[in-house]
Amino acid sequence: MSQPPRRLRSRDWFGRHDSHGFVHRGWMKGQGHPAHMFDGRPVIGICNTWSELTPCNGHLRQLAEFVKRGVYEAGGFPLEFPVFSPGESMMRPTAMLFRNLASMDVECALRGNPLDAVVLMAGCDKTTPALLMGAASVDLPAIVLSGGPMLNAWRGRERMGSGTHVFKAVEAVKAGTMTPAQFEAAEAELNRSAGHCMTMGTASTMASLVEGTGLALPGNAALPAVDARRQVLAHLTGMRAVALAREDLRLSRLLTKQHFENAILLNGALGGSTNAVVHLLALAGRAGVELTLEDWDRLGRDMPCLVDLMPSGQYLMEDFCYAGGIPTVLRALGSRLHRDAPTIGGQTLGEIADAAEPPDGEVIRTLEAPFKPLGGITVLRGNLAPLGAVLKPSAASPHLMRHTGPAVVFDSIEDFQARIDDPALPVEADSVLVLRNCGPRGYPGMAEVGNMRLPARLIRQGITDMVRISDARMSGTAYGTVVLHVAPEASGGGPLALVRDGDRIALDVAARSLELLVEEAELEGRRQALRPFVSPYQRGYERLYVEHVMGAETGADFDFLVGGSGAPPLRDSH
Ligand code: FES
Ligand code: MG
Repeated sequence: MSQPPRRLRSRDWFGRHDSHGFVHRGWMKGQGHPAHMFDGRPVIGICNTWSELTPCNGHLRQLAEFVKRGVYEAGGFPLEFPVFSPGESMMRPTAMLFRNLASMDVECALRGNPLDAVVLMAGCDKTTPALLMGAASVDLPAIVLSGGPMLNAWRGRERMGSGTHVFKAVEAVKAGTMTPAQFEAAEAELNRSAGHCMTMGTASTMASLVEGTGLALPGNAALPAVDARRQVLAHLTGMRAVALAREDLRLSRLLTKQHFENAILLNGALGGSTNAVVHLLALAGRAGVELTLEDWDRLGRDMPCLVDLMPSGQYLMEDFCYAGGIPTVLRALGSRLHRDAPTIGGQTLGEIADAAEPPDGEVIRTLEAPFKPLGGITVLRGNLAPLGAVLKPSAASPHLMRHTGPAVVFDSIEDFQARIDDPALPVEADSVLVLRNCGPRGYPGMAEVGNMRLPARLIRQGITDMVRISDARMSGTAYGTVVLHVAPEASGGGPLALVRDGDRIALDVAARSLELLVEEAELEGRRQALRPFVSPYQRGYERLYVEHVMGAETGADFDFLVGGSGAPPLRDSH
């Protein structure tokens, strides 16, 4: 016997025959919706981070129209709404400061409105985790649709990657191998289409993890933003959202420990962004799944990097698309993943992998002949990072993986900018650059400044990498032997605050250790002399942030946002 149809959540608004129902339906009719839209069909929210100030998501308004086509075709009622859109390329002091704010916006919008399921439209770095975190705290059926990467950028016949080639161009101008005119021309060359960064930076990493763990339909990560097949994907995503509402397939059914383990494994295979660490820890916190830095180290430890994409390699997301994209990576990973994990489309991950093209051995490699032996994130500990720090071996230099050198300390990014090219700065190739007060509380918002540029004098000598240590993050498009997310952060009482110029610091990636080679008694004296951190942000959202943000080691979410409140029936609004 078939089940009677489930009463949808939206009926609490649109199914009533009283003044409330009148208001809810009536005001909607003022937008031109016919009466039969309120006949009990699923209402599908299209949660859109479109914004002209988030250029990576600038095309999501148009893409949403294709989602609506799919929703209508499947018998649903689509309603699109904007949410706060933290754009990586514009927002100061850093878009990460507003990830939690955006997640609160999403959570409130989903819970407070007559929605039965939601399509989460994201792209630029912070938009994907923000939408998922907010949605997880409400736990409606939800499916992600990413905006897609930009087309490949070219300078002559050489590929150029978002972010990665900005850093390279800055160095080239300093080294005298690029003219200022060429530098300016590269701005347009790098960004020649709609879409988000097309390196395996944070945006592509998050879109890939979302697809590879089954929160989006196959093709979500790699199809270029301007490829007509992404419009088809949007249409199919809209159709699927209606089915999700009918099946009541909630996010919590997918966001299990198994899900996060797959995400960590996949991040290793992709040589994905270090930012995925903080975002997945925060998302797990919302979903009530116990996930720690230890899981990252345990699972990522010997996962080889299978894809030859910038910043670790040479290709870009468009190439990744032609090579088969995420389904091909899933196929290459075989039984290293939980193949029985469910996906939003109804298949298991293993079924998607089995239907994929095999690796081409160039852009996408195999486990037997990987691109790099170590793709995962290494978690370091020691007296300089008692709660952990992270490093991405695939983007680091082999000769620096075990290194001891004297510290050159900067108290802020402004201090760094002011002094790094000072000819009098006692810095040599074996120095360890230390930057502090750039963590979640200190910056505030844990800015992407950890990949400090090298002193111009050393670049001219041909030095291309140095050990750098901070409580900051780095752009997912950056590279180098960079120790990030040192916890506790300096502004939170961490030992990073105690380092002085000339102290010797020992990094040993194989041993997973990060040690400040200074006697404990000396450190204790310095600790006593330390002045407590006082944030200059004393009002508004920034004050809320500084007072409630947790450490990088748990994902830098707010303490009061951990977990969820579901989507219960709410009190009437009038
Ligand atoms: Fe938006 Fe890179 S700036 S994804
Ligand atoms: Mg970024």
